[in-house]
Amino acid sequence: MELLNQIRAVVGDAGLITGEEVAIRPGDWRGRTSCSAWAVVRPRTTAEFSEVMKLCYAARQPVVPAGGLTGLVRGHAVDANELQLSFERMRNIQSIDPVGRTMIVEAGVPLQAVQEAAAEHGLLYGVDLSARGSCTIGGNISTNAGGNTVIRYGMTRENVLGLEAVLADGTVVSSMSSLLKNNTGYDLKQLFIGSEGTLGLVTRAVLRLHPAPISEATAIVAFDSFEKLTQFLLLAGSRLGGMIRSFEVMWNNFYEIIGVRSGRHRPPLAAGHEVYVIVEVAGTDIERDEAIFQDVLTVALEKGIAADAVVAASKSQRDAIWAIREDVEGEIIMMDPATDFDVSLPIVQMQEYVRELQNSLRTEFGEDALMTVYGHVGDNNLHLLVSPRPWSDEAKRRVQEMVYRPLAVLGGSVSAEHGIGLSKREWLPLSRGAEELALMRRIKAALDPHNLLNRGKILAR
Ligand code: LAC
Ligand code: ZN
Repeated sequence: MELLNQIRAVVGDAGLITGEEVAIRPGDWRGRTSCSAWAVVRPRTTAEFSEVMKLCYAARQPVVPAGGLTGLVRGHAVDANELQLSFERMRNIQSIDPVGRTMIVEAGVPLQAVQEAAAEHGLLYGVDLSARGSCTIGGNISTNAGGNTVIRYGMTRENVLGLEAVLADGTVVSSMSSLLKNNTGYDLKQLFIGSEGTLGLVTRAVLRLHPAPISEATAIVAFDSFEKLTQFLLLAGSRLGGMIRSFEVMWNNFYEIIGVRSGRHRPPLAAGHEVYVIVEVAGTDIERDEAIFQDVLTVALEKGIAADAVVAASKSQRDAIWAIREDVEGEIIMMDPATDFDVSLPIVQMQEYVRELQNSLRTEFGEDALMTVYGHVGDNNLHLLVSPRPWSDEAKRRVQEMVYRPLAVLGGSVSAEHGIGLSKREWLPLSRGAEELALMRRIKAALDPHNLLNRGKILAR
C-alpha cells in the first residue's frame, strides 16, 4: 500500500483507482471481461507518467499500459500483481501545423478524434481501421497499427514523425521531431513503435498528415477466381496508381455469412462469386478521377476480369458496402466461438493457401467447420476467422497449427498487423529466427532490466 500512497501523491485521488472500483472497469473493448489489475493509475501528463515509473522502478512494480483495449492479441492483459497505466486522461490534441502538415497529440487521443481534427484543417491522417472510435493513438503506435489504407499511406510507423516515451526507470526520452528528414543517428522512435509497450510508454507523438482528397469513389467488384482478382489489382494499379486508398478483399465465405446470411445487410452484389473486393480511390480532380475509375471498371468487366461491379452512388451506399467489411459484431454473432488470425504471405500464394486450409479443415472437422477469409490483400495481409465445431481448446489448437505451420514454408508471417501480445507468442519462432529473437531479448534487457513494462508480452523472457 505504501507504493499506492506514493503514486496517489503524484496523480491525485482522481488519478488512482483501487479496490472494488477496479473490477467495474472493462478488461477489453467488448466488456466481456473485467479489469483484473491490482490498481489503475491515470496520470495526466508525461511528467506524472515519469514520476509514477520512478516509483514503480524503485519498488520493482510491473505495469501494463492501456489504451482503448481494442487489441486482438491480449497485449493489454493485466494480472492482480500488476498496475494498469491508463492513458484516458491524456486526450489533448496539442497543436496542428497545416503548413508542415503535422499534429502533436497526447497518447490517449482516440484515432477518430485525430482524423476529425485533421479534416477540420483540410488534412487527413493516413491510418484508418474499424476500431477508430475506441482505439487510441498511443495504442496504434505501440502496436504499429495497419488497417484499411496501408496500401496508400503505410502503417502507423510511416505516419509518426516523432514521439515522447517514458522508460522503465522514469527517464523521459523526447524525440518530438516534426521533420520528414532527420538522419541524426539511431532512429530511437522506432524502438517504441510496434514494441507493444514492452520497451517504453509512449505519452505523446508528432503525427504526419496529408492533404485531404477532393474526389473519392468506392466500388465493390466480384470475381470468379482469385487469379482474376490479381489481374484486377495489376490493372487498377497501373491505371489508378497512387489513387488507390483501399483494396479490401472478402472471400465468398465472408460475403455470404456476414453479408447475406446474417440478415444484417443489404448486399450490393449477389453471393456466390469466388471473391469480392472493395476498391476505394481518392484524388484531386472529381471529373477526371471518376472517369478513370469508371473506365477501369468497364475494362475489367468487358475483358471478363470482373464478373460484376457496383459503384457507390452516395455516401450511404458507400457506408453500406463498408458496413459488411467492418461488421465485427456480425462476425461475433455468426462465428463465435472462433479463433481469429492475422497472417501475411505473398499474394501469389494466397489462393492455394486458402484452398489447402479449407481442405484440411474439412478433412479434420467435416462440413460443419466455419471459416471466413478477408483482409488487406494489397498489403499481403489475410484475416481468417475459423470456428471448428464442436469447439474445444484442442480443436482451436489444431486450427492454429493448420493456419500457422504452412506460413514458415511460404515466407509468411504469423502477424501482419495485430502484433504478438500473449496470444501469438508461442508461434513467433515460425516467423523470426533465433538470432533475431536473441537480439530482441538483448534490447528488452537493456531498456527494461527488471522486466517491468508489459511483462511477458511478445517474449516469454
Ligand atoms: C480488420 C481487423 C481485424 O482488418 O484488422 O478488420
Ligand atoms: Zn486488418
